[in-house]
Amino acid sequence: MTTQAREQWRSRWGFVLAAIGSAVGLGNMWRFSYLTAEMGGAAFVGLYLVFTLLIGLPVMLAELTLGRGARAGPVAALGHYGGPAWRGLGVVFVAAGFLILSYYGVIGGWTLRYAAEAIWIGFPTDPGDHFGALASGWDSLATQVVFMGITIVIVAGGIGSGIERVARIAMPALFAIIVAIAVYAFTLEGSGAGYRYYLNFELRNALALDVVVAAAGQAFFSLSLGMGAILTFASYLPRESHLVRETFVISFSDFGVAFVAGLMVFPLIFALGMANEIEAGTIGALFVALPKAFLSMGPVGRLIGSAFFLALVVGALTSAISLLEVVVAATIDRFGWGRRRAAWISGLAVTGLGVWSAFDLRVLDLADSLAINLFLVGGGLGIAVFVGWIMADPVGEAAIGSRPSFWLEGWRFLLRFVVPVALVFVLWNSLPETWEKLRALLGS
Ligand code: PHE
Repeated sequence: MTTQAREQWRSRWGFVLAAIGSAVGLGNMWRFSYLTAEMGGAAFVGLYLVFTLLIGLPVMLAELTLGRGARAGPVAALGHYGGPAWRGLGVVFVAAGFLILSYYGVIGGWTLRYAAEAIWIGFPTDPGDHFGALASGWDSLATQVVFMGITIVIVAGGIGSGIERVARIAMPALFAIIVAIAVYAFTLEGSGAGYRYYLNFELRNALALDVVVAAAGQAFFSLSLGMGAILTFASYLPRESHLVRETFVISFSDFGVAFVAGLMVFPLIFALGMANEIEAGTIGALFVALPKAFLSMGPVGRLIGSAFFLALVVGALTSAISLLEVVVAATIDRFGWGRRRAAWISGLAVTGLGVWSAFDLRVLDLADSLAINLFLVGGGLGIAVFVGWIMADPVGEAAIGSRPSFWLEGWRFLLRFVVPVALVFVLWNSLPETWEKLRALLGS
């Protein structure tokens, strides 16, 4: 622990917007849309909402409580409340941050490239080939390096003058853009088919095991839970902040953005006859179907498309910042380095690991499965057990700054019983898919 005073957010909204910035990202737009398409619409969305409420909210409050209370990065925070043995869980979090950011930076690079091209060149006439050419290989590496460079510079700038400053401008801009596009999509002829596809509920899908598992993983990923990102951001909070309120604000904003993103993506795609593209449900779907739709809309499409990819860049960047911050905070705690040094060294190390994903989409896909199914869901399980069973007085700690209420006892009950049971179930049932992907990659 350094003797220097710990950095702090400058304002309540600075923190809230930065946390929403962490939550809202590629998960809400890219991953949410392609999974909703692949998993059959509203059943997936409904389950994702259920997991957000039942598991996301309790784990979010648990991370906020740990971070604010310990005022330290993930490893030191777990050590603070649980003794040396629990530091290991914090190390797993840092590893998860490393792994996720390694491929997140690659996709972030794509969004940067798409935004720049939309603005300066326009959309390509052959989006499929175009995506194929820039998604892996040297092009992909180049955009990943640029994206990571921007991320590192912002994190090196610190909490108040780097992360908070960016979030305060970027997040409101992102909200405005996606709401505007969703409203515009509503006016398009033929958009009705998109809403029907998106909001059509089929019970059969809601009961399918793979849909349940995917929805749980998506809830963790989208809320930035299970690897200490929210915990780390909370470690820069003043003691009197109202954690229960922030839990709701952050979680509902995140769900809201994903939901609105669906109201934007599906009507657009269906109105312009690109339905079969998205139904393929692959990681490239959004990057192929949407440019096609934008291209067929002429100059308006160029404008909307530029705004869309700009919003995607903003979302990706503010999430990448929080992923890197986990690694940086732990590095500062551990080695006592300055922030600048910690940001550059860990940022470059993450970029190095990401080279693998930049050159092979299957590695990227596998990293995504591993990170979410094992690390985030497993990490969420660890947090629930830790705060529910090990931490001495989580209810008292969480209540500081909030009105004490008996709901917090309900929170502890969820952490002790409901969350662990649900997550063990999800973890167990996700193993076959992850294993399949690993085998396919190794076997080739
Ligand atoms: N929540 C981010 C998104 O939706 C991704 C993320 C996961 C960020 C975990 C931080 C920690 O894109």
